[in-house]
Amino acid sequence: MAQFEARNGLAGLRVLLGVSGGIAAYKACELVRRLRDAGAEVRVVLTENAARFVTPLTFQALSGQPVRSGLWDEAAEAAMGHLELAHWAQRIVIAPASADLVARLAHGFADDLLSTLCLASDAPLAIAPAMNLRMWAHAATQANVATLRGRGAVFLGPGEGRMAEPESGLGRLLEPHEIIAELGALHGPKALTGKRVLVSAGPTYEDIDPVRFIGNRSSGRMGFAVAQAAMEQGARVELVAGPVHLPTPAGVARVDVRSARDMREAVLARAPHSDIYVGAAAVGDFRPHEVAAHKLKKTGGALTLSLNENPDILAAVAALKPRPYVVGFAAETQNIEGYARAKLERKKLDLIAANKVGEGEGFDACQNEILLISRDGAERLARADKLALARQLVARIAEKYANRESEIGSGKASVRKRLPARASGRTRARAK
Ligand code: PMT
Repeated sequence: MAQFEARNGLAGLRVLLGVSGGIAAYKACELVRRLRDAGAEVRVVLTENAARFVTPLTFQALSGQPVRSGLWDEAAEAAMGHLELAHWAQRIVIAPASADLVARLAHGFADDLLSTLCLASDAPLAIAPAMNLRMWAHAATQANVATLRGRGAVFLGPGEGRMAEPESGLGRLLEPHEIIAELGALHGPKALTGKRVLVSAGPTYEDIDPVRFIGNRSSGRMGFAVAQAAMEQGARVELVAGPVHLPTPAGVARVDVRSARDMREAVLARAPHSDIYVGAAAVGDFRPHEVAAHKLKKTGGALTLSLNENPDILAAVAALKPRPYVVGFAAETQNIEGYARAKLERKKLDLIAANKVGEGEGFDACQNEILLISRDGAERLARADKLALARQLVARIAEKYANRESEIGSGKASVRKRLPARASGRTRARAK
């Protein structure tokens, strides 16, 4: 246990666990136990509705501490005032977080003890939502989630599966062990401290005339999630984003671009100073040969557009000397592994994340699944929320990047002969 505690970073951490009303509140009991097993000190605050599902006494017995619920409890305030409690917390975890609580936090309400503590505390906030799948998918909830993420809150889940109602979908509270694993990753040793990670995300728009363009369905979610996950692992992250409607993850430096050529310029200006480049953008392969100066008018017949091929950004980064560790994505509708492997070789990548795209898949979806392919083999990362998936992907990238660096450090000439691109990475590492 001691070894686990040392590794997971939760040992000694003062966690304020907020529980809001919902049937999933029962899982918070198990979460208290697991947090304490991991060495955390836990104090529980229940909303009024949470106390209808699980009694304060249960949490008191499990946490070994008095449980708070109301703002106006004189005895509790005398023992530890709510501002003192806000100051005490090193991490606030809300599990389960109802749609109502997410909305109130996004709008800065302070009309009960839990929302007041969240406003009054500097502690980072982790939110594990649990709600009906339509409530989670609702534009209002998604806007609230985006607001909170933009302020640095971390969302743990929700998961997909059976809920209390006879329906299944995204909205289920993560299992306590999954919450512990994600919190452990947030507080554990950071795999990319001191590294510079460059990420491209979103679509590109290729203008046809002043009102029309050729674009694609990428929302930018996958790339933004990769940027956030890399930042959580201690990296300095630069994000080159095509036209998307997403808030910038807190702590990430963002550059907005429109066309593939703009993106290429922004990426190539930064790639030589980056340790890792992740190309998650859906870069337009073609652009109109000419951009019309005025709106094209209908002529009663067919319009023929002549298209030129855009330069390949990933291949250009992989050809740099020295070069960063280069990770591509492959968006495929069929023969996923075959086409992705061909791209890995043709573009001379270190790693490629292949995903299936099509109706409701890959593009613009909240979830994704990945087949991660390197020259050594392939690993499937199961379907999950894009942020959860990005955290797994970034963990794999960090591991493979570290292996490559140590191989370069110890392999000397034989490594240089076998892996010419890696030898250039060593030159860069030495030059730094
Ligand atoms: O943005 P979302 O809605 O979340 O959707 C995520 C995603 C499906 C866009 C993402 O997961 C993904 O697969 N991104 C890559 C999309 C793509 O352009 O794939 P591709 O197979 O056409 O290109 C292969 C790789 O080459 C990609 O890394 C791409 O960024 C890169 N490329 C492509 C063309 C080009 N001119 N320059 C490039 O760098």
